[in-house]
Amino acid sequence: MNDTRHEPWLIRSDLNFLNHGSFGATPRCVIEDQRHWQTLLEEDPIEFLAPERSLLPKLNFVRQTVADEIHASPPDIAFVRNATEGVNAVVRSWPLQPGDEILVTNHGYNACINAVAQAADAAGASVVTATIPFPIRDPDEVVQAIEQSITPKTKWMLIDHVTSPTGIVLPIAELIELAHSKNIRVMVDGAHAPGMLPLNLSELQPDYYTANHHKWWCGPKVSGFLYVDQDCQDDVLPSIISHGANTEGYGPSKFQSQFNWPGTFDPSPLLALPTAIDFLASLHPTEDSNRLAGLMRHNHQLAVAGRRIILERFNLSEPAPESMLGSLATVPIPSWANHSPDQIQAIRTSLRDEHRFELPVFRFDATNVCLRISAQAYNKLEQYERLADAVAGLS
Ligand SMILES: Cc1ncc(COP(=O)(O)O)c(C=O)c1O
Repeated sequence: MNDTRHEPWLIRSDLNFLNHGSFGATPRCVIEDQRHWQTLLEEDPIEFLAPERSLLPKLNFVRQTVADEIHASPPDIAFVRNATEGVNAVVRSWPLQPGDEILVTNHGYNACINAVAQAADAAGASVVTATIPFPIRDPDEVVQAIEQSITPKTKWMLIDHVTSPTGIVLPIAELIELAHSKNIRVMVDGAHAPGMLPLNLSELQPDYYTANHHKWWCGPKVSGFLYVDQDCQDDVLPSIISHGANTEGYGPSKFQSQFNWPGTFDPSPLLALPTAIDFLASLHPTEDSNRLAGLMRHNHQLAVAGRRIILERFNLSEPAPESMLGSLATVPIPSWANHSPDQIQAIRTSLRDEHRFELPVFRFDATNVCLRISAQAYNKLEQYERLADAVAGLS
């Protein structure tokens, strides 16, 4: 293996890491910044970590960074460990009534749908799954699928901004508008969106939006944010109830004080986020007011080009239009369609062990067994060429 001690990314040079979407890689300078924060913490633990001492100003600096990137107001932003926690906090706070329906989609993330199902079960409510087609031709197909699944009992909706298994960008502006026109409150699971897509929550006006810092913003694992519209903040409790529930000095609002202190925790992943975003912005400088626009464009074009290589190699048509992609792309491989779980596992093992590729290979539904590629700054087009060769060699 080459000496990579000075490379900006820590990913092993002998690994074709095409899975930034699952647990994104974190740049070296960000890990170093995180360690710096951890050292400062250990030098003076109480002063550093006590909310009534110097923790809150540090968190507020990061909150302002997040607010600037997503165009939201800092008081509406809380921190969570990850998107799963953000979804849990919201759906488990919903005042569900027996008979209520919660709408999710068949492209949703299993962990988050489990949280919805559990909350629904406990309240005698039910979960309705809208079936979005895949392959898909047009964002209108998403809106139609959701509209057809709405009933007078639909009170809540969980939709993904970028779907995990199929890697498509859902038309969330239209979906939020549709939901609000029917008095439905919308939770957007934006796990993948920050760093992949421009985000303007002031324009989108979701009721709730959660996302990870540790995916396309390349923040250290474990960190994310939860935005809650001011009108809904009184109802949302964190997954962990702590001092903030009855103690002054943990934040300027009940909402923030409840989330600012989940018990003793390591804030270093949060505190290193500004360094991560600065690093990403430096990779593809742009005049655009969105400082990550250059990187987003680069990654999108790489994902599209990488997908095109695979589609052309196997003579496949587009499973989704390029305009519905960010920097993920999922391709169903027809010759795998009837594979057993063992055969799918054998493909994963061969790609990983013999060809040194890390990427998801999975059954999406009865007819589609897929691979999903990611494109991040450290990926190269030739990796997708080699992936196509490796897959061709398998089938
Ligand atoms: C759409 C979506 N939601 C939620 C998550 C969960 O992220 P985490 O495990 O960081 O909570 C993922 C992870 O890939 C995801 O793709």
